[in-house]
Amino acid sequence: MGNLQDQDLSSRIANTLALRCVAHRLFEVSGVEDVRPAIDWSQASGLPLCPLGAGSNVVLPPELAAGVITVRDDSVSVLSETADSVTLRVGAGKGWHSLVSETLQNGFYGLENLALIPGLVGAAPVQNIGAYGRELNEFVVAVHGVSLHSGEPRSLSSEECEFAYRDSVFKHDLRDKFLISHVDFCLSKVPVVNVEYPALRSSLADGENSPTAVFEAVVALRRERLPNPDEIPNAGSFFKNPILSRKQLEKLQFIEPEVPVYPVAGEQFKVSAAWLIERAGLPGFSKGPASISEQHALVLVTNGKAYQADVRELAKHVQGVVKGRFTVMLEPEPRFYD
Ligand code: FAD
Ligand code: EPU
Repeated sequence: MGNLQDQDLSSRIANTLALRCVAHRLFEVSGVEDVRPAIDWSQASGLPLCPLGAGSNVVLPPELAAGVITVRDDSVSVLSETADSVTLRVGAGKGWHSLVSETLQNGFYGLENLALIPGLVGAAPVQNIGAYGRELNEFVVAVHGVSLHSGEPRSLSSEECEFAYRDSVFKHDLRDKFLISHVDFCLSKVPVVNVEYPALRSSLADGENSPTAVFEAVVALRRERLPNPDEIPNAGSFFKNPILSRKQLEKLQFIEPEVPVYPVAGEQFKVSAAWLIERAGLPGFSKGPASISEQHALVLVTNGKAYQADVRELAKHVQGVVKGRFTVMLEPEPRFYD
């Protein structure tokens, strides 16, 4: 376990927006049994512990008055198997995309639509990662971890995780209180695919719908659409797609009849934030070192020299313009830290 003081998190490995950030302490743990010294440090210093993975969905401040805690365990083990399914236990430190590639290679199917999402397995349940018609909660059986107050281990069933669109209990009641150490996934041993997402379906040739074809199509779509954070610092979609009531939708459609709408359960409607931002003429708009990507309107990029305040200012500007023009308030997807 490493306990290094004043950790510089500006590197893109720790923070894909490449924001200047120094944390008070970094604790790298290999499992729940290692967490006690970090809890003792937190109690003695009065500073909180802050779980972090690869930093691909965070907006960090110049000084993070916390101890960053990261799980290094990248083990993958088979918990149980039937003729047509397998349950895997995966360490929180496993790279998400490596898990997707390796499960596919081993003939365990389901995660292909979620290929190339940056980050580690431990963060995946936090916002219930989703892409191209699939969400993580379709595969999660249980999430295991440890209380960052008592050091007690705890396991949550998928239901207890309260998964929703880009949301879970880990963003609410358990925020900064629980360190995820392992996630259990149930995958299919029988090839199954979901090609309902229109952009995915139209990028596959007729009849081409094997899990490998889906994986490759998703990788190609993502490479074409999203700026690569290794080259252009970014955190993926910067805003969630807003979910509106019928009344809110009617108000928006009165202003913009052509806005793309995706019905979701219970008389609710998801609208495309990218479309609204593009319609407002914001792609390419900059505030100092932070800009709205010209490649994808929902992505905020930096030039590698930005601070949190630059990103906050640009995000506020986008929210103000979109609200003023379309009456819709955009909510940031990555977490801003104080
Ligand atoms: P971090 O950014 O380090 O942390 C994110 C949050 O999770 C923080 O609140 C942190 O406290 C918490 N956390 C991290 N690890 C733990 C742990 N072990 N225990 C408890 N809490 C923890 N997301 C999607 O859903 N779909 C996409 O298609 C998608 N595309 C992206 C494309 C790009 C180019 C980028 C840069 C990001 C994209 N994202 C997407 C967002 C991001 O990849 C995911 O949110 C990912 O799960 C974050 O993983 P991370 O390890 O980087 O987490
Ligand atoms: N669009 C534009 N302009 C653009 C880009 C998109 O108008 O520059 C419109 C188009 O109408 C397009 C629609 O937006 O059809 C949807 O675009 P896309 O398929 O790229 O989806 P998205 O809403 O921008 C969401 C997720 C992504 C996920 C993709 C694929 C959110 C906030 N974002 O993006 O997740 O990869 O769908 O499923 O839900 C992330 O969370 O970081 C992320 C990248």
